[in-house]
Amino acid sequence: MYPTMSGVEIESYRDRFVRHLSQTVPGRKEFVVAEARGCTVTTADGRSYLDMTSGIGVANVGHCHPRVVEAIQAQAARYAHVNVYGRFVVPEQVELVERLTGAAGAGFDMAYLTSSGAESTECAMKLARKHTGRPKFVAFERAYHGRTLGALSVSWREEWRAPFEPLLDEVMFVPYDSLTAAAAAVDDRTAAVIVEPIQGEGGIRVPSDDFLPGLRELCDATGALLIVDEVQGGMGRSGRWFAHQHTDVRPDIITMAKAVGGGLPLGAVLASAELFATFVDPPLSHLTTMGGNPVACAAGIAAFDVIADGLLDRVVEAGEYLRTGLAALCDEFAGLLVDVRGRGLWCAIELSVDANPVVARMQQLGVLVGSVLNQSGTVRIMPPLVISDAEIDTFVGVLRTVLGEVAS
Ligand SMILES: Cc1ncc(COP(=O)(O)O)c(C=O)c1O
Repeated sequence: MYPTMSGVEIESYRDRFVRHLSQTVPGRKEFVVAEARGCTVTTADGRSYLDMTSGIGVANVGHCHPRVVEAIQAQAARYAHVNVYGRFVVPEQVELVERLTGAAGAGFDMAYLTSSGAESTECAMKLARKHTGRPKFVAFERAYHGRTLGALSVSWREEWRAPFEPLLDEVMFVPYDSLTAAAAAVDDRTAAVIVEPIQGEGGIRVPSDDFLPGLRELCDATGALLIVDEVQGGMGRSGRWFAHQHTDVRPDIITMAKAVGGGLPLGAVLASAELFATFVDPPLSHLTTMGGNPVACAAGIAAFDVIADGLLDRVVEAGEYLRTGLAALCDEFAGLLVDVRGRGLWCAIELSVDANPVVARMQQLGVLVGSVLNQSGTVRIMPPLVISDAEIDTFVGVLRTVLGEVAS
């Protein structure tokens, strides 16, 4: 049973939250969380919401999946943390990394474990710079790779970069999905091209089939490394373990975070043993205290195994069901709902009006959706991968109601 609170307690938490937790978004907080299970988030005043955000791509196996909860409890009862990364053998790290590298395929022998997506980006950028001895990165318009200084340097939106400049100076942004532009930018000073296989914060943009293969060729021709950011797209979100696996491209480096920890803070950078050898010379060239935390790894193993037990096929099926429902709304509300795109359970709808009132109204009607950082007018739809057809019907029904209200 979730912990309900009185109205006075709720207002007190709301007030103390904004007073004591540094906020980067102004305004009144929407609700006080009490519990989350599967695809449902319940508030302290007893309201339930259908979660079509997965906590922004984290709860891929649903909130509080019983196998994940059990793994966390068992590991927490044994040990939570014993040393800084790299001195002792932590079996949970081995178990997790063998699963991740196995899913990534040939050439991925190793992982460096982190605690977040931005940290994975930093690790990948350092690895690329040190291995190639080159200074430059090529990134893409509307890209998002995190908010730390290195990651910010390769994240696109100018208004969030400008106040923190100078950032890394040798970064070139080129239009996503343009091989011509990429070809003009990638050269023998380029350490790496960093790319999302489907752009998440850019609006769930699926590139043309030849885009990633073309980038691979450019990297091969110039000696640059190809970093594929799977922080949002990994762990089955698109219907494959990794979103780049819809092509036959093999990146040099894969970054992961979000869903990899089954809801706990965890990230991973996957590459070859040869690439990672660069961090041993000199020793300690890269370091983290909490990366690969054993409890997070235990949760990650359980989450991985839930997905491995047939969930990828279900993501493809549920994704098609979802997009069929959305396509029908496109016909019904032509001119208002102007685009539906995505892959697996990673979708976006594009509206011809401001998306924020639509998102807010859906929440009033019990459905959580969100916007994306680098594309206005876009509503992101990324539910837990365990969502049922009945829950998809509920979502589509509420969206139909709200679009009907907007249209009239
Ligand atoms: C593609 C991508 N890379 C990196 C990040 C940064 O991850 P984190 O917020 O864990 O630092 C995000 C976060 O949304 C992301 O979507």
